[in-house]
Amino acid sequence: MAEFKIVVLPGDGIGPEVAAAGVEALKTIGEVYGHSFAFEEKLIGGIAIDERDDPYPADTDAACQAADAVILGAVGGPKWDLKPKRPEQGLLAVRKSLGLFANLRPMDVAASQAFRSPLKEDIVSGADMLIVRELTGGLYFGKQSRTETSATDECVYTVEEIERVARIAFEAARKRRNKVTSVDKANVIETSRLWRETVNKLHAAEYSDVELEHALVDSMAMHLVTRPKSFDVIVTENMFGDILSDLASVLPGSIGLLGSASLGATGKGLYEPIHGSAPDIAGKDLANPIGTLKSVSMLLRFSLNLNAEADALDAAIEAVIQKGILTRDLGGTAAGSEVTKAIVAEIRAA
Ligand code: NAD
Ligand code: IPM
Ligand code: MN
Repeated sequence: MAEFKIVVLPGDGIGPEVAAAGVEALKTIGEVYGHSFAFEEKLIGGIAIDERDDPYPADTDAACQAADAVILGAVGGPKWDLKPKRPEQGLLAVRKSLGLFANLRPMDVAASQAFRSPLKEDIVSGADMLIVRELTGGLYFGKQSRTETSATDECVYTVEEIERVARIAFEAARKRRNKVTSVDKANVIETSRLWRETVNKLHAAEYSDVELEHALVDSMAMHLVTRPKSFDVIVTENMFGDILSDLASVLPGSIGLLGSASLGATGKGLYEPIHGSAPDIAGKDLANPIGTLKSVSMLLRFSLNLNAEADALDAAIEAVIQKGILTRDLGGTAAGSEVTKAIVAEIRAA
C-alpha cells in the first residue's frame, strides 16, 4: 500500500484547531478507503518565531519539499504585530519555496443555503465561481524599503508569471462554464497593463474557445456582490486576489467556509483555508473547520488523485451543512470539533 507523506503546519491562533480537523478527516478517509497517510507536524509562523526565532525554519522547508502535500492552518496574531520578524513571512516563504504560483479559491452558494448569506437570497443563490489568485509575484515579493518618512513596495510581474497563472484559469474554465474574467487595474498600473496584454495574447493563441472578459478591480468588487452569478473563473494578481476572495466569502455567509489549493508546476500542493488565525476566537473551539476540510478535499483531488475520496468528503460536508450542524459564524451552536466529528461520522456512514 502506497503511503502518502503529509506535512501539517498548524501555525497560530485557530490554525491548530482547523489543521487538526483536516488531519482527522484524512485519517478517516485512510481507514475507510484503505490508504495510509504519514503525518509530520512542523513549525511555521509565530510559534516558529517563538521557538526557533525563524518563521520558516529549514527543517520545515525540508519536510515540505519531501512531502506529497502540505496542510496549513493559519499564521499570525497580535503578539507578533509590528515586530521585525513576522509570522506572515513564513507563509510567503513556503509558497515561494514550493513554487506555488496559483492559488485556487472556489466559492459556491447552494440554493438551499442561500438564506445564510447576509446578501439577498436571489442574488447569491446558485453562484459558483473559482478565483485563481497569482501567489508568488507582485507586491508581496517585490523589493521593500523604508526611511523615517517614506516607504516603498515594488510591484513586478513578468510575462511568464502572468501566462502560467492565466493558463491555469483557462484550463479550469474549460472544465467549468468556459468563461474567464481577468481582473486588473489597467487604467492606472503598468503591471496591470502587461497583465491584460499577456492574457489577451494567450487567449488569442491558445484559448479562443473560452469566453474572456476584463474587469477593473474596483468595479469588480461591486459586481461580485451585486451579480455574482455572472462569474465563472476569475483570474487576478496576488493582492487583488487576496482581497476579492475574502469579499467573495461573504456570499455563502462565512469566511470559515472557503478552502484553497496552492499549486505549482508539479503535483505537490499546499492546502489551507482562506481565512487567517482569527485571534478573537482562538482556543475556544469556535472555529469553523469547513474551509480546511474543503482544502483537504482539494488535496485528495489535486495532489493524491483520489477523486472518489474527495467526492466522499465533499458529500459529507454537504450533508452536515444540510443537517444544520454549524458553528457560530453560520448562526449555529455547534463547536468546531462537533462539526468535524459529524463530518467524519458521515464519511464512515456513506
Ligand atoms: P481572519 O480571517 O483571521 O479573521 C477575520 C474574521 O473572521 C474574524 O472575526 C474571525 O473570527 C472570523 N473567522 C476567520 N476564520 C474563521 C473560522 N474558521 N470560523 C469562524 N470565524 C472565522 O482575518 P484577520 O483578523 O484580518 O487576521 C488575523 C491574523 O491572521 C493576522 O495576523 C493576519 O496576518 C493573519 N492571516 C493569516 C492567514 C493565513 O495564515 N493564511 C490569512 C489571513 C490572515
Ligand atoms: C491569505 C493571507 C495571507 C496573504 C497573509 C497572511 C500573508 O491573507 O492567505 O489570504 O495575504 O496571502
Ligand atoms: Mn487573505
